[in-house]
Amino acid sequence: MILSGETRLAGILGWPVGHSLSPRVHGYWLERHKIDGAYLPLPVRPEAFPAAVRTLLELGFRGANVTIPHKRAALALCDSLDEAARRIGAVNTLVFAEGEIQGRNSDGFGFMENLRQGAPSWRAGDGPAVVLGAGGAARAAVHALLAAGAPEIRLCNRTLERAETLAQDMAGPVTCVPWAARAGALDGAGILVNTTSLGMAGKGTLALDLDVLPASALVTDIVYAPLETDLLRRARARGNPAVDGLGMLLHQARPGFKAWFGAAPEVTAEMRAFVLKRE
Ligand code: ATR
Repeated sequence: MILSGETRLAGILGWPVGHSLSPRVHGYWLERHKIDGAYLPLPVRPEAFPAAVRTLLELGFRGANVTIPHKRAALALCDSLDEAARRIGAVNTLVFAEGEIQGRNSDGFGFMENLRQGAPSWRAGDGPAVVLGAGGAARAAVHALLAAGAPEIRLCNRTLERAETLAQDMAGPVTCVPWAARAGALDGAGILVNTTSLGMAGKGTLALDLDVLPASALVTDIVYAPLETDLLRRARARGNPAVDGLGMLLHQARPGFKAWFGAAPEVTAEMRAFVLKRE
């Protein structure tokens, strides 16, 4: 795409950002929709983050994604926040509109859209959800599951207090389960979600006995490197439907793209293959 003087600008603020797949994701859609726009990697140190955001606003950027380590710091810079950003306690999408900084969080949206696409017959209301982990990804997943009508969330984290804090912030039917009791929590579950880093290349493996998990339960993993984690492989082997974590990353990008560049992008098999080709 040849850029003009009217080029719409957005990017991703993080430190580091070299590993981010987001420029590829947005670059793919910009090409596909033939939009006069650019989405740039924007490496910014934590201490420079507030000034960098104001500079982007000044430069006429449409907005930016925000990733590690700035997602919480971004909350304080925004003039307004959407419900998801408030509940999750983090911003992943900044939209600059009418001279204002709007903070949004599309991680929960991405999580749920990935499940809708990968397991269309699954319904959040059909049974309890078991969520492993209590970091930012867990906050997004719990928020989205509650919003979608999950009757109960069983939240299981190595550090129990962290799960308790998350449960308090969410205001919904969230029960905290000690890490040692995680296998038993699978009894009667409608979905199992791993948001811990266990299973990621170079991290430990997730030790979890799946014996009491109903065969109909959906299993999903936030980890997408590798795409097929040990958990997903074991779930599929015993007949459970399973959805990998790449789609969450792709779908969370959709609302930002729409807000900055105007077109509603889609996540397709071709796009997944394109994004993965980097590996
Ligand atoms: P993110 O914000 O991306 O979710 P995070 O805040 O680093 O990342 O959270 C990582 C999650 O993996 C946490 O729930 C962490 O448990 P603690 O809260 O007890 O730290 C979990 N985790 C990481 N390594 C683990 C391990 N070896 N065993 C169990 N849980 C682990």
